[in-house]
Amino acid sequence: AAAPVITIDGPSGSGKGTVARRVAQTLGWHLLDSGALYRLVALASLRAGVDATDEPRLRELAVELPVVFAVRADGSEQIRLGDQDVTLDIRTEECGLRASAVAVLPAVREALLERQRSFQVPPGLVADGRDMGTVVFPAAALKVFLTASAAERANRRYKQLKEKGLGVSLAALSRDIEDRDRRDSERSVAPLRPAADARILDSSDLTINEVSDKILGWARQGQ
Ligand code: C5P
Repeated sequence: AAAPVITIDGPSGSGKGTVARRVAQTLGWHLLDSGALYRLVALASLRAGVDATDEPRLRELAVELPVVFAVRADGSEQIRLGDQDVTLDIRTEECGLRASAVAVLPAVREALLERQRSFQVPPGLVADGRDMGTVVFPAAALKVFLTASAAERANRRYKQLKEKGLGVSLAALSRDIEDRDRRDSERSVAPLRPAADARILDSSDLTINEVSDKILGWARQGQ
């Protein structure tokens, strides 16, 4: 049988990245941060001077993407593009906005599909993104759709970026988040929406621990 998958989808700032990491660590499963793949295509396109609408070239970049997910000696995660450490570079707002622009292109999504599915290996996978439960892993045993109020999500992103030493204004961030959410929800290919069989969880008034425990509880129930 295929390795089990837990999908965690939701808008930016819903906490899905942090929660997915925690759940994967607790279970000892693999983790797929699918947003990082879109951000990597975005970064590669910015660096290569490829236009955000040049679908054939963007598809090529996605197919060839020389990405390495590594762990440093101190245990921290590192994302490399070829021999370059781009762990921080892909987290900027510029890269996030470009990612949501290239993510509307069917050829780019298609090019990343197999790469994402290759993460489904024993003992299991926790995958976070926008379409993990609807498109990439439709047979996942547990699907979670994580939401939070827009204000709460902007606040969380703000804190996250500040911790990484990336400066932004809260007002600009709120606008960016709204733009990105609208684009992610309104696009025709793999729009952001809960799978029919997803459990919807509003994290506005919950801590990361509470959200993770809730999901781990569901995972155990299903076994
Ligand atoms: O999750 P993150 O903010 O890193 O994702 C960046 C962008 O990549 C999202 O705004 C979205 O447009 C796109 N994305 C996607 N499908 C996924 C993951 C991310 O379209 N599964």
